Amino acid sequence: MSANALPVQPEAPVPAGAPALEVRGLTKSFGALSVLRGIDLTLRQGEVLGLVGDNGAGKSTLVKILSGFHTQDSGEILLSGERVSFNSVESARSHGIETVYQDLALIPQLSVYQNLFLGHEITMLGPVRFLKKGEMRKLARQYLDEINVHVPSMDAEAVDLSGGQRQAIAVARAVRAANKILLLDEPLSAMGARESRLIIDLVKDLAASGRVSTTTLTYSSCATASTSCRAAASRSTSRWRTRRSRSSRS
Ligand SMILES: Nc1ncnc2c1ncn2[C@@H]1O[C@H](COP(=O)(O)OP(=O)(O)O)[C@@H](O)[C@H]1O
Ligand SMILES: [Mg+2]
Repeated sequence: MSANALPVQPEAPVPAGAPALEVRGLTKSFGALSVLRGIDLTLRQGEVLGLVGDNGAGKSTLVKILSGFHTQDSGEILLSGERVSFNSVESARSHGIETVYQDLALIPQLSVYQNLFLGHEITMLGPVRFLKKGEMRKLARQYLDEINVHVPSMDAEAVDLSGGQRQAIAVARAVRAANKILLLDEPLSAMGARESRLIIDLVKDLAASGRVSTTTLTYSSCATASTSCRAAASRSTSRWRTRRSRSSRS
């Protein structure tokens, strides 16, 4: 048991539904530092799962492995029952996994619409790849209006937006692009009440659609976003336990 161990959590039954994502025996070390030691997780279709752990427990490291940013030392990742291995963020994205990182939400020098379409740009057909900038600006405006994210201009650079606006745009982009799994690392950190509400609503809508399974890396945001929230908690930075949300907020 280490200093950052959490209280023991009772095991919760895994909800019904096909597994969208399974993690088996995942380990990861950085040099001599063993961060993840034998992580097992199951995320069901349409489920919202929260991960709980103290600072340094390895939550962000797990997300970075699931999104192709880091590679695990050992262990398996299965998507819809098929074993997968990612060698880049692009390869995880091509499997339908979208991620909002805690520390790398948007590219500061790109505009609102460029960030929103990053990696999913609309281009004209033909031998040369021309970006349809006007259409992307228009669609970006429509989409952000629809979900109540207010920014001065689609051409504003991300660096000039507030932290909350940047985070809201990053989540909006991922929600739009995800078609299997959405990973949100501490999505409500440093956010005001309005933007927090907005993100919770986006995750709720997504969960209700049953289309995408979501892992949100705080138990509180998971419990607020879903009545059927489970949380996986780290103990001794090596084991994850699940429990059912006692929250009945919806
Ligand atoms: N790229 C890295 N190189 C070396 N150590 C790292 C790296 N990323 C994370 N760590 C270390 O791994 C541990 C877990 O970090 P992290 O996954 O960010 O935890 P959490 O998100 O739960 O706060 C910490 O001790 C952190 O310093
Ligand atoms: Mg973290």
